[in-house]
Amino acid sequence: MNPSPDSSRASAPPERATPSTPVSLHVELPEARRVGAVIHDLDARAVTPGQVAAIHELVYEHKVVVFTGQELSNTEYIAFARALGEPQIYFQPNYHHPDHPEIFVSSNVPMNGKKVGVAGTGRYWHSDYQFFAEPLPMTMVYPQEVGGEQRSTSYIDMVQVLADLPPDLAALVRDARFLHEAKWRYKITPEDIDKSITEILEEFGALTPTVSHPAVGRHPVKARDYLYASRGFTVGIEGMSPEEGRAALSELLDWVEREEHVQHQPWRTDRILLWDNRQVIHCAAVTDLGARSTSYRIGVYDGRPFYTNEPGARVLA
Ligand SMILES: [Fe+2]
Repeated sequence: MNPSPDSSRASAPPERATPSTPVSLHVELPEARRVGAVIHDLDARAVTPGQVAAIHELVYEHKVVVFTGQELSNTEYIAFARALGEPQIYFQPNYHHPDHPEIFVSSNVPMNGKKVGVAGTGRYWHSDYQFFAEPLPMTMVYPQEVGGEQRSTSYIDMVQVLADLPPDLAALVRDARFLHEAKWRYKITPEDIDKSITEILEEFGALTPTVSHPAVGRHPVKARDYLYASRGFTVGIEGMSPEEGRAALSELLDWVEREEHVQHQPWRTDRILLWDNRQVIHCAAVTDLGARSTSYRIGVYDGRPFYTNEPGARVLA
C-alpha cells in the first residue's frame, strides 16, 4: 500500500502518531487547516476497544477519517459500524440494501436486474439528518463501484468557517437559531404516481416537520463551536420573515461555499470514509455521464449529544 496515494497528500507531513493513538494504528495526519486523518491497513474485522477509542479521537479531532486497504463483506462492514457505535436504519426504506437495512444504497446500478437504493444522493451541501431533532452524528461511506473519473465526497470545515467569518456574518449567526427542512430534497418514489406535487410535499412535510437548531453548535467532546447550516436543508432563521431569512442565509452560505473552503476526498473501492456531521458539511460529486456508481453508507450514532448548547432542538408544528 502506497502511504501517500493521492497527489493532494503528496506534501503531507511525515507520518506520526498522536499521543492517544496506539502503536497498532498506522496514521497519517492532515496538514494545518485541512480535514482528514488517514488510517492505513486497519483490520476492520477485528478492531480492539483501544483502536475504537483512537478512531473516535481522530474523527473528533480531524473531522474526517479515511480507512485505506479495506475489503469488507456487507456483514463485516456493518459489524465495523457497530464497533464504532449504533448503526442507523434510514427512515426511508427505499434507500435500504435489500438484505441489510443498515446499509443505505446510493447506486445507479441494478442488483439482480432490479433497481436498488437511490441514484444520485446528496449532491448538495448538507449534514446528514440535519432536518431531524436528533441529527446523525457520524457517517461512513464505502464505495463499491466507482465509474468515471470524478467521484468524491467534498467537505467544508464548519469549525474553521465559523472562526473565519467576517464580522457581519458572525453577528448574524451569534445566538441565532436556524430552521431546517427535508421536503425540498424529497425524491419521488413509484408510490407517488398520481399524487400532486402539493400532496407529496404535504405528506413528506408531515413526516419531517421543520426543526430548529442553534446556528452555532458546541461539540460534545472537543467543546469547540461549529456553524450548523447548509444549502441543502437550512431554510430560514427564527425571528425573521421567510424572505429576510432566505436572503441572509444566501449571503452566509455563499461565503461558506467559497472554493477555498472546499476539500475533496476521492472515492476508491478499497477505502471507507468516516466523518463527524457536527463539524463538516459534505456534498457528493456528480457521477460522470453514463458511469456506474454504487456506494454503501452506514450512519453511526456515537451515544453523544449532537451539541451541548441549550436550548436544544425544537420541532415546529
Ligand atoms: Fe449525506
